[in-house]
Amino acid sequence: MSTIEFLVQNEEERREIVEMARDFAQTEIAPTAAERDRTKAPPTEEFAKLGELGFFGMLIPEAYEGLGFDTLTYLMVIEELAAADASVAITISVHNSLPVAMLLAHGSDEQKQHWLPRMARGEAIAAFCLSEADAGSDAARLRAQAERDGSEWMLNGTKSWVSHGDCAGLLVVMARTDTQDARRGPKGISAFLVPGGAAGVEVGKAEDKMGLRSSQTVSINLSSVKLGPESLLGAEGSGFIYAMQALDQGRLGVAAQAVGIARAALEHSLRYSAERKQFDTPIKDFQAIQFKLADMATRVAAGRALMYEAARQKDTGRDVTELAGMAKLYGSEMAMWVTTQAVQIFGGYGYMRDYPVERLFRDAKVTEIYEGTSEIQRIVIGRGLHTE
Ligand code: CAA
Repeated sequence: MSTIEFLVQNEEERREIVEMARDFAQTEIAPTAAERDRTKAPPTEEFAKLGELGFFGMLIPEAYEGLGFDTLTYLMVIEELAAADASVAITISVHNSLPVAMLLAHGSDEQKQHWLPRMARGEAIAAFCLSEADAGSDAARLRAQAERDGSEWMLNGTKSWVSHGDCAGLLVVMARTDTQDARRGPKGISAFLVPGGAAGVEVGKAEDKMGLRSSQTVSINLSSVKLGPESLLGAEGSGFIYAMQALDQGRLGVAAQAVGIARAALEHSLRYSAERKQFDTPIKDFQAIQFKLADMATRVAAGRALMYEAARQKDTGRDVTELAGMAKLYGSEMAMWVTTQAVQIFGGYGYMRDYPVERLFRDAKVTEIYEGTSEIQRIVIGRGLHTE
């Protein structure tokens, strides 16, 4: 990313922000998370409140009506939201980490003036449209096309697994502009700013997912979508690189989400193990359970420390491609492990939908998959090791 336009919070200010986020998340989001998970109802009211509080503009500078947080403060807030409901956290994370980051880094003054205040207020929730049915891990294989039509663009294609694509006011769409030579791969891809309601944009069916069930994941069909020249973001042919740069930040958002899910599983396990008696003894007093809790707490702390380190490095302007990959890789596998232990501690109850750890276990899984699978993170980290 080119410039650092955010404010770096001082410790006291950061602590107050995170406490406020925790209070809000625990009182306004957590109590209804299980019900939303059951009904798949989108968190519409919660989004409205989050918009009023400015959470959709956490990484947007104050000049564009955002809160101008630094990366560390932002990720600490994402952890709080994810500890309450990961389905809510993912929308805030994708919106801030990916489209906002791309606009800040590569948008023209006009594009920033037009979109960022609306995004900061939560009026235009933004989605990131990179993946396609045949282009997941191999993102450069994407087939959506943007063809020149005089001074305009004509966009066609279908995007898959778009988080909150059903309610997005802005879609950042990666499409092939070098339509003659698909072998140019990453070099022939450009990024476009597509208003959610543009003619020819059709929202496909919502996926029936294992977890994050109240966050709608949809396909987006783009059928002869006419776009003006102002919709091209940055330079033609650079869209793939912009998307990869943004994913560095997106992967930190997923790391924070994983830490939040794991922390919630640990907190539930601590409470439950103190209350639950077997053999006339609270199960926390059995060493088998103590060891599990100790390992869970250690891994949550390690995941958080790695995420903080990556955030601090990013806030000093360093490239964090590999560190973000490490934070996501470790955080997501840690969350899967910690939530598995939590289900085990809850025993039969842990397997039941009536108890919260079952949802946390399901919500954790996708952190190992989206915004680059664990296997892709290992490729990114491994490549970096040889270029240092
Ligand atoms: N920062 C800056 N530039 C980068 C970069 C980064 N992090 N990563 C790659 N690039 C650049 C490369 O330097 C290269 O540029 P040059 O040709 O000028 O050198 C160009 O991008 C192409 O890179 P690669 O040759 O490495 O491309 P590749 O085809 O081999 O793919 C990959 C690399 C890492 C495997 C990439 O395809 C990848 O990350 N795949 C996973 C995709 C992914 O994360 N998808 C998630 C979608 S979002 C989502 O999950 C939905 C949601 O809503 C949550």
